[in-house]
Amino acid sequence: MIGTEVLTPGAQELIYGHKIMDSLHEHTPATTFLCANLVNPQIPEFETHKVFTINNKRVLVTSIIDPGLERKAIHGLQIAEPLPALEKILKIPHDLAIAVLHFSDAKARRFMRSVTGLDIAIFATQRGTMKESEFINGCWLLKNNNHGKTIGYLDWDFTTGKPSTAKLIQINKMAYDADSKIAELVNKYETWVRKHYIEMEKKRDKTTADLTIKIPYVGSQNCGTCHPQITASWQNTEHARAYASLQKKCKDFCPDCLPCHVTGSREHDKQGFRSPTDTPNLFNIQCEECHGPAEDHIKNPKSPYGLKIDASTCTICHTANNDPEFFFKDDVQLITH
Ligand code: HEC
Ligand code: HEC
Ligand code: HEC
Ligand code: HEC
Repeated sequence: MIGTEVLTPGAQELIYGHKIMDSLHEHTPATTFLCANLVNPQIPEFETHKVFTINNKRVLVTSIIDPGLERKAIHGLQIAEPLPALEKILKIPHDLAIAVLHFSDAKARRFMRSVTGLDIAIFATQRGTMKESEFINGCWLLKNNNHGKTIGYLDWDFTTGKPSTAKLIQINKMAYDADSKIAELVNKYETWVRKHYIEMEKKRDKTTADLTIKIPYVGSQNCGTCHPQITASWQNTEHARAYASLQKKCKDFCPDCLPCHVTGSREHDKQGFRSPTDTPNLFNIQCEECHGPAEDHIKNPKSPYGLKIDASTCTICHTANNDPEFFFKDDVQLITH
C-alpha cells in the first residue's frame, strides 16, 4: 500500500525468512528487494542494485548488510564481504549513489571511511535521531530513527552535490488518519496487539519465584496526606498521565512501551512495576520513580530519604531516541514542585 520501489531486507526480515519476503512480495509486487552482498537470496524479484532515471539523472540504489548479522540469518542465507560487493556496484555509471547500510551505528561509520564514491548512506537500524546532516568521507549520512516514529527526508541538489534539505518528519496518528485505509489497518493491528499481550499476561505462570519478591514501592496514593501541595503539583504533570497515553494507543499491555510509562520498572533494574495486572498501583511516572522506593520513608519520615536527582534520573526514559530535545536543566524546571 505504501508502494515503495525498493525494499532492502535487514536483520529482522532475514530472521523471519522467506515467509515474510514472500508475503511482502505478494502485497507489493512492484517492489524490488535489494542487497549487494546477500549470496543466495532465493527471494522473488531480487536484485543487487537498481538504477532509476529521474530528470535525466541516473540514481543508483543498493544496500549492504553486516556479515556479523549472519549468525541470526537462520534460513541458510549467506552474507558476503560488504566492501568488495559495494565497490563493484559503484562502478556502474551513475550520477548519484545511495546505499542503505544494515549495520550498527559505529560499524557503519567505520565502514564509510573506507568507501569512496558513495553520495548518500542511509543508516537502517539505528536508534536516535539525526540532529543535523553528517558528512563522512564524501558521503552524506541519513538516519530514520527506529520504531517508525520518524522518516528521513532529503532533497538533493545536483549543482552543488549536496542535500538542500535534510530533515526528519514525524509520523503521527494525524498523518495516517488522513488515509482511512491505512488508519483501519493501524487500528486493527493495535487492537490485535493489545489482545495478544493480555492473553500472554493471562498465560504467564503466576507461581514463579518473582511473585514472592517484596516490592518496596508504595505508590503515590501514600504521599498526599503528608505532602499535599507537592502531590497536587505532580498531578498536573504529564508524568501523572503517562499510562493513559499508552491506553489511547492500545499499548497499555505492551512490554515494549511499559517500562518508561510506569514506576520502578524491572526493565530499568528497579523493583517496582511488574505487570498491569500485578501492580496497577504503579502506573504512570510517580514520585518513587525519581525519589526511590518509599516503603521505609512512610514508616519513618524523619530518616533520610530521596535520591539525589540528576540528568541520569531522567535519561533512562528521556533517551535520545524518544526525546531528542530533552535538556535536563530546562526540563527539570517543568516538573519541580
Ligand atoms: C507520614 C507522613 C509522610 C508520608 C506518608 C510521606 N512523607 Fe515524605 N516526608 C515527610 C516528612 C515529615 C519529611 C521531612 C523529613 C525531614 O524533616 O527531614 C519528608 C521528606 C520527604 C522527602 C525528602 C525531602 C528533602 O528535602 O530531603 C521526599 C523526597 C519525600 N518526603 C517524598 C515522599 C514520597 C514520595 C512519599 C510517598 C511515597 C512520601 N514522602 C510520604 C513525611 C511524609
Ligand atoms: C520512567 C520514565 C521517566 C522518567 C524517569 C522521567 N520521565 Fe519525564 N516523561 C516520561 C514520559 C513517558 C512522559 C510523557 C508522558 C505522556 O505524555 O504520556 C514524560 C514527560 C515529561 C515532560 C513533559 C513532556 C515534555 O517533554 O514536554 C517533562 C518536562 C519531563 N517528562 C521531564 C522529566 C525530568 C526532568 C525527569 C527527571 C527528573 C523525568 N522527566 C524523568 C517518562 C519519564
Ligand atoms: C525509553 C522510554 C520510552 C519507551 C520505551 C516508550 N516511551 Fe513513550 N514516551 C517516553 C518519553 C520520555 C515521552 C515524553 C517525551 C516526548 O513526548 O517525546 C513519551 C511520550 C509518549 C507519548 C505522548 C507524546 C506523544 O508522542 O503523543 C505517547 C502517546 C507515548 N509515549 C507512547 C508510547 C508507546 C505506544 C510506546 C511503545 C511503542 C512508548 N511510548 C514507549 C518514553 C518512552
Ligand atoms: C520526574 C521526577 C520527579 C517526580 C515524579 C517527583 N519528584 Fe519530587 N522532586 C524532584 C526533583 C527534581 C526535586 C528537587 C530536589 C532535588 O533536586 O533533589 C524534587 C523535590 C521533592 C521534595 C523536596 C521538596 C523541597 O521543597 O525540598 C519532596 C518532598 C518531593 N519532591 C516529593 C515528591 C512527591 C510526594 C512526589 C509525587 C507526588 C514527587 N516528589 C514526584 C523530582 C520528582
